[in-house]
Amino acid sequence: MPEAGRFADIGSDHALLPIYLVLKHPELSAIVGEIVEGPYRAAQRAVTKHELVDRIQCRLGDGLSILRPGEVQAVSICGMGGGTIRAILEQSPAVVQELESVVLQPNTNASAVRLWAADNGWTITNEQLLADAGLLYEVIRLEKGASKALTAMEATFGPLLLREQHPLLRMRIKEELSRCGRVLEGLKHAVQTEDVQQRRAQLEQLQIELSQLLQQLK
Ligand SMILES: C[S@@+](CC[C@H](N)C(=O)[O-])C[C@H]1O[C@@H](n2cnc3c(N)ncnc32)[C@H](O)[C@@H]1O
Repeated sequence: MPEAGRFADIGSDHALLPIYLVLKHPELSAIVGEIVEGPYRAAQRAVTKHELVDRIQCRLGDGLSILRPGEVQAVSICGMGGGTIRAILEQSPAVVQELESVVLQPNTNASAVRLWAADNGWTITNEQLLADAGLLYEVIRLEKGASKALTAMEATFGPLLLREQHPLLRMRIKEELSRCGRVLEGLKHAVQTEDVQQRRAQLEQLQIELSQLLQQLK
């Protein structure tokens, strides 16, 4: 996130991220967005407790609709599914248009976010994988700029994570292989319509490609 200026954290829950960043960077202020009353109140309480009411403003509302275009330079949206994050970005084009950077942490389906970036003129400038308590978290930073078409593997695993062969990439690919195996197992017990058979063939092909990708990692 920027170290000065103003950013918005959407779906902030207890506002932990904006509180941390604003305390760390004296030139930074934030807007917190929450759609649910309970977390919105929790964010207000936390901001008050840290005596940050003059630097963090809490707003109740859906996604980026709480912002006027140009009100913040950057937005973070963390801890939601990739499809939800993508929908939040798509619902407010006028706000997105004025942003300089976006930090996203999709819990699932990160490819939805990366494909949105590729289709909408955003460049992936940083990607990180973090492991905590056996779970993997993906963080993606986007900046306005020439977007690049992505292969299916790049959309799923991240072009930068693949290029840099991130130390946790092996764990991430194994996770995807297990997910594939679980879906295949379920489909084996479904009525074998043409669609189901087609999906099974796709997943079997994906398993082969994921295994090859694993072997290619140093
Ligand atoms: C799992 S929490 C993540 C909290 C925090 N961002 C984090 O990463 O720890 C997801 C939060 O997003 C909020 N949320 C979900 N959809 C939203 C939307 N469209 N607009 C604003 N907040 C939303 C939920 O109410 C919930 O508090």
